[in-house]
Amino acid sequence: MNPPLKVYHDDDISPAPLEDAGVAVIGYGSQGRAQALNLRDSGVAVTVGLRPGSPSRARAEEDGFTLLEPGAAVEETPFVAVLVPDEVQGEVVAQEVTPHVKRGAVVVFAHGGPVHFGEVALPEGVDVALVAPMGPGRLLREYYVAGHGLNAKAAVARDATGGAWPRALAYARALGCGRAGVIATTFAEEAKLDLFSEQAVLCGGLPALAEAAFETLVAAGYPPVLAYIECVREIKYVADLTYEHGLDGMRRRISSTALYGGATRGPKVVGAEAKKTLKEILGAVEDGSFVAEMRAKFGGREEFLAAARNDRLEAAREEFERIIRRVPRE
Ligand SMILES: NC(=O)c1ccc[n+]([C@@H]2O[C@H](COP(=O)([O-])OP(=O)(O)OC[C@H]3O[C@@H](n4cnc5c(N)ncnc54)[C@H](OP(=O)(O)O)[C@@H]3O)[C@@H](O)[C@H]2O)c1
Repeated sequence: MNPPLKVYHDDDISPAPLEDAGVAVIGYGSQGRAQALNLRDSGVAVTVGLRPGSPSRARAEEDGFTLLEPGAAVEETPFVAVLVPDEVQGEVVAQEVTPHVKRGAVVVFAHGGPVHFGEVALPEGVDVALVAPMGPGRLLREYYVAGHGLNAKAAVARDATGGAWPRALAYARALGCGRAGVIATTFAEEAKLDLFSEQAVLCGGLPALAEAAFETLVAAGYPPVLAYIECVREIKYVADLTYEHGLDGMRRRISSTALYGGATRGPKVVGAEAKKTLKEILGAVEDGSFVAEMRAKFGGREEFLAAARNDRLEAAREEFERIIRRVPRE
């Protein structure tokens, strides 16, 4: 049996490790902006590190942050948050963090992958921690402002100073995550679970299934806009119920017809073949071959966005927005 999860809330976490300690936030995207704003509102001095000519500069300045080039920001502070995309972290850490980070500092990541899969290397004498908010930056900020905070996972890969855990927890607390609960994990576990769930369910299996169901209805002659509503848009209603009440709670709240149809047809959709595929997907995440494949093949987002786009489905969505929701065309 797995050991019970260790979860920390504000009451269990001392903010002391961050008192009088600044944070250099490297990157000002989804996580970078939200984390910088939350940290500052929690009373932490934040410097934002951006590359020369960064398009994010104007926004960070507008938000009132002191801006430095990444290396200079790293030199100044005992906390460094690496909040650039995973695929560039190896390069950014090698060029901007490793040469500048102070002995005794802590480098915080928001996803375990690059450290777990050996893409980043940090000098000895530096703590390596993970504080991974369980949602996009927009929600991290929204929940902080609303007062209830977003859950996070936290881990330590290297405790050089003997204080890495309290530092990781203090960082999570300043993000507001201690209000909701900070779950102790490891870099390996977070990296693998995150990659598997986004491939198998959230960003892979679920959208692929919705699209295939949409195409099935359209091929059978049903109006695309209605197929879009049924197979794509209504995901939200079931997702909201599942978020609030779990799968069993969701089933208890749907109609008897939906319950019977789902219980008898769902296992046919996700049958033996799909389960075999899920195991293969997990295997490729665990042995590192997925990450190696992506680093070799991923040449940028646009190529994959174009390949994945279903024009018929997008046209149906546009029609829905225009005719039914009456949102004017841009
Ligand atoms: N987004 C999420 O939902 C989410 C949730 C939990 C954890 N995470 C984790 O959070 C971390 C950051 O992800 P994110 O989604 O916030 O990333 P993101 O929005 O794509 O990050 C964009 C920022 O990274 C900077 N950047 C990109 N390439 C760079 C390079 N080569 N050198 C220097 N700066 C560079 C950009 O600089 P410019 O402004 O100069 O272009 C921009 O400021 C990742 O580890 C991710 O796995 C993300």
